[in-house]
Amino acid sequence: FFPKKVEIIEVGPRDGLQNEKIPVSTEQKKELIRQLVEVGFKRIETTSFVHPKWVPQMADAYEIATYCNEIGLKYIALTPNLRGLERAIDVGVPQIAVFIGASTTFNKKNINKSTEESLLECIPLFEKAKAHNIFIRAYISMAFTCPFQGNVSFEEVNQVCKRFVELGADEIDIGDTNGFANPKLVYERFSRLRELYPKSTFVGHFHDTRKMALANTLAALQAGIDKFDSAIGGLGGCPYSPGATGNLATEDLVLMLSEMGIETGIQYEQTKQVSPYAKSLSSRDR
Ligand code: HMG
Ligand code: MG
Repeated sequence: FFPKKVEIIEVGPRDGLQNEKIPVSTEQKKELIRQLVEVGFKRIETTSFVHPKWVPQMADAYEIATYCNEIGLKYIALTPNLRGLERAIDVGVPQIAVFIGASTTFNKKNINKSTEESLLECIPLFEKAKAHNIFIRAYISMAFTCPFQGNVSFEEVNQVCKRFVELGADEIDIGDTNGFANPKLVYERFSRLRELYPKSTFVGHFHDTRKMALANTLAALQAGIDKFDSAIGGLGGCPYSPGATGNLATEDLVLMLSEMGIETGIQYEQTKQVSPYAKSLSSRDR
């Protein structure tokens, strides 16, 4: 009924820190990544190749990627457009993430484009990434609700998902960007997606705004999902989604899965020890 094994992808250094108000130095980010690698995380989303004017906290993407290359980490970097991908290719990023919201209002505010415009922009981006043998993680943000338009329909999600599948995304990450999903909706949405796209790999990405991220994870597990994103210390928040707080805390996810006898390759006690350092980088009381 439940999967025997789950992959946890740590997204704290990227999703966790991108919105942090106080400056986090490159050395502090490297130290956080080093500690996460030591705990056993094999895949970490570490940075974003975005304009530093939009996301100043990710201005050191090149340095962080270089460090990840040096330590031989299989890391993911967010590249929202071709310019970002080109910068990522220059430094030899092995895995990229792109994102499109299921809601057009969100896309307008986040990347300044409609859903359709964003999808069109993805075509050359996917082609280029594939030509460089780069693994592509494709996020569908606001896949449950949206702070600007309220409900998000399954059709809106599927409009993006269908294209990501056609374009050949290696994994499709379903984001509860603002943390307003509930377990029933999560179960239904993931079940339908798996029925429609049995060959695709899906990932659950939950924010914990209303303390339902663990419950949502359980619902996704029941729908057959076995890959989840989380951020150490519950770091995070999305600059373009008002009211969104942190991601699901990695230590909570590790604890729940280990108590359920699900293998993750990560020990709870060790993970918990990294959490205070992660929290010390954040201005928010957690
Ligand atoms: P834009 O301003 O529309 O881009 O930004 P543009 O093409 O008009 O370019 C304007 C200027 O930016 C130009 O420079 C470009 O060269 C430069 P200028 O000529 O003015 O000197 N530029 C860049 N420079 C460096 N790197 C780049 C880049 N792109 C353009 N990549 C863009 C378009 C998408 C880049 C912008 O809107 C942006 O960066 N937005 C922020 C996106 C972001 O990081 N959002 C937060 C992440 S999403 C998220 O957290 C959700 C997720 O966690 C999943 C979930 O929770 O559901 C993933
Ligand atoms: Mg997120």
